[in-house]
Amino acid sequence: MNLLLIGSGGREHALAWKLSQSQRVDRIFVVPGNGGTATMPKCENVHIDVTDVAALRHFAHTRDVALTVVGPEAPLVAGLVDAFQEAQIPIFGPTQAAAQLEGSKVFSKRFMQRHHIPTAFAMTFDNFDEAWPYADDLPHLPVIKADGLAAGKGVVLPQSRMELQDALREMLVAHRFGEASTTVLIEERLHGPEVSVLAFCDGKTVRIMPPAQDHKRLLDGDHGPNTGGMGAFAPSPLAPPELLAEIERTILQPTLDGIAAEGSPYVGILYAGILLTDEGPMTLEFNCRFGDPEAQVILPLLETDLLDVILACVDGRLDEIELSWRDEAAVTVVMASGGYPDVYETGKPIHGISAAEDVGCIVFHAGTAGSNSHAVTSGGRVLAVTALGGSLTEAAEHAYTGVEKIQFEGAVYRRDIARR
Ligand code: AMP
Ligand code: GLY
Repeated sequence: MNLLLIGSGGREHALAWKLSQSQRVDRIFVVPGNGGTATMPKCENVHIDVTDVAALRHFAHTRDVALTVVGPEAPLVAGLVDAFQEAQIPIFGPTQAAAQLEGSKVFSKRFMQRHHIPTAFAMTFDNFDEAWPYADDLPHLPVIKADGLAAGKGVVLPQSRMELQDALREMLVAHRFGEASTTVLIEERLHGPEVSVLAFCDGKTVRIMPPAQDHKRLLDGDHGPNTGGMGAFAPSPLAPPELLAEIERTILQPTLDGIAAEGSPYVGILYAGILLTDEGPMTLEFNCRFGDPEAQVILPLLETDLLDVILACVDGRLDEIELSWRDEAAVTVVMASGGYPDVYETGKPIHGISAAEDVGCIVFHAGTAGSNSHAVTSGGRVLAVTALGGSLTEAAEHAYTGVEKIQFEGAVYRRDIARR
């Protein structure tokens, strides 16, 4: 069977890595892919613009693609799944309507309110002159969220009234994120630890994955600017089985039921960002795809054939599948270019990937070009070095053994992933 995989990050390398293990997979075309997918057995990078839907459909037809898997949110929110479904090409991911759970924070908040899914209280504003007096009057500093996709920069947690006013002004007056911030949420700030719970969905049934945690800040001890994620681990000890069952019962299943009842059954990966408060688990956000770097720790723990699970989702028979997970822990450490998440240089030769693999690490490429022996940096997040172990401590030690084998000029990484 030939597959088409959309995306270019560490998440997509992990998806390709796992899918290529399936006996039934002959070929995986990755659009556009990276240095890792370029040289993986069964994989081939294809240079098509991921927003060029006609070209993607044409490619799928002419290359006998039996299934398309979408990694990132942007093509989902733009309606790639709808376009493929119209052409009757099987594809795994939510439709544009269902992907609004991530694509519009206002839609998502109202949806949760309609369906009594636990989430922080929030009000919606599209006008600074109304938003500011409301926000200024609140007893505690709130969280400000741009409605639309803003490349991970649309959520502001102001530390002062001044920052609060600036955030509102930037979004509602200066239109910092264009269309994405013409409407904002002013949301109650919650306190507690955060955990990510992802699930496979076929429109009716959810099958949850081991809970994961990521490290969003650039520097050790959760300092420095927010990033796409500097590391992750699973399973998270914060969500033992009973709590996970509660999250499935109060958040994931009602979301799937609710969106189906509204006429947009959700097929794909549903990712719930959850804050564990004293009042119970509360939903901070939904993503309509695998996390990056969460995929790089969750997929290595999955024993079941990923193709079987995805096909069951697409065919609406996920209830027939029981997932099996390794009784181990996984840790991934992201190695990034110096300067990330702001300006950074690329084209730096990367050494030691094979040496890290020789000590048993799985090195997922993110921003790389070339091949393992001649890889160069081509993005902010460059590699995600993953390892398994009997415990989180063991997996972390193992991952760092791999990280220490790898060098490229300006490499930065956190030393405290899964170690706190
Ligand atoms: P989001 O993209 O909505 O998950 O927000 C990004 C990050 O902001 C989350 O991972 C949280 O750390 C933080 N955050 C978002 N909403 C809240 C909230 N209501 N209370 C506290 N922290 C929040
Ligand atoms: N690591 C967070 C995300 O993928 O949204």
